[in-house]
Amino acid sequence: MQNTEKILEIDHPIIARDLTILRNKSTTTDVFRLALGRISTILAYHALMNIPMKDIPVETPIQMTTGYKIDAEIVVIPILRAGLGLVDAITNFIPDARVGHLGMYRDEVTKKPVDYYVNIPNGIENALVLVVDPMLATGGSACDAIGFLKSQGAKNIRFTCLISAPEGVAKLQEEHPDVSIITAAIDEKLNENKFIVPGLGDAGDRIFGTT
Ligand code: PRP
Repeated sequence: MQNTEKILEIDHPIIARDLTILRNKSTTTDVFRLALGRISTILAYHALMNIPMKDIPVETPIQMTTGYKIDAEIVVIPILRAGLGLVDAITNFIPDARVGHLGMYRDEVTKKPVDYYVNIPNGIENALVLVVDPMLATGGSACDAIGFLKSQGAKNIRFTCLISAPEGVAKLQEEHPDVSIITAAIDEKLNENKFIVPGLGDAGDRIFGTT
């Protein structure tokens, strides 16, 4: 059963409109990227909810008052390659966020994740770690990535994706119940090839124009 406290499926007209653009197989790469950029911004806004803040004094033209600054180290971890499409939205909000890379692809035959590149910044044990990947299908890639980051000391992890399958949500919540999920849509199911239905096809190929 879904842990509803740990998953946020964002319901917003702009997301509904832009997901339709992303799902449409006729959408060209340029239009796809623009819609992805807009949705990513909304996802990033929600992924950054409830982060530690600190009061700071600020002098307005009228008087002194209380202002705020973010009191957390933010590390973004895109799961390559498609996760790269969600990084800018977060660094636009948090320009000093550090970015680590986890290279992982899903083997077309076994459907299991295969690691090929790791470059993670030091100090993730004290950071809010935002793992980003457009798709949560079987959940294998997300679970492996998060398991690896925990083995490196990460304690505070959020996972952000565009589209998720119920199967992937269940697996991620079972293996990593502490990780909250921020998603633009929970789709119907996986098909026999473990693609999300109705989904949007292969996010990496559509972002990078490789088909
Ligand atoms: C896709 C997607 C996720 C993974 C999801 O990556 O971006 O990383 O598959 O599937 P899972 O939940 O079943 O593990 P893909 O293998 O297509 O690699 P790419 O990002 O390099 O295109």
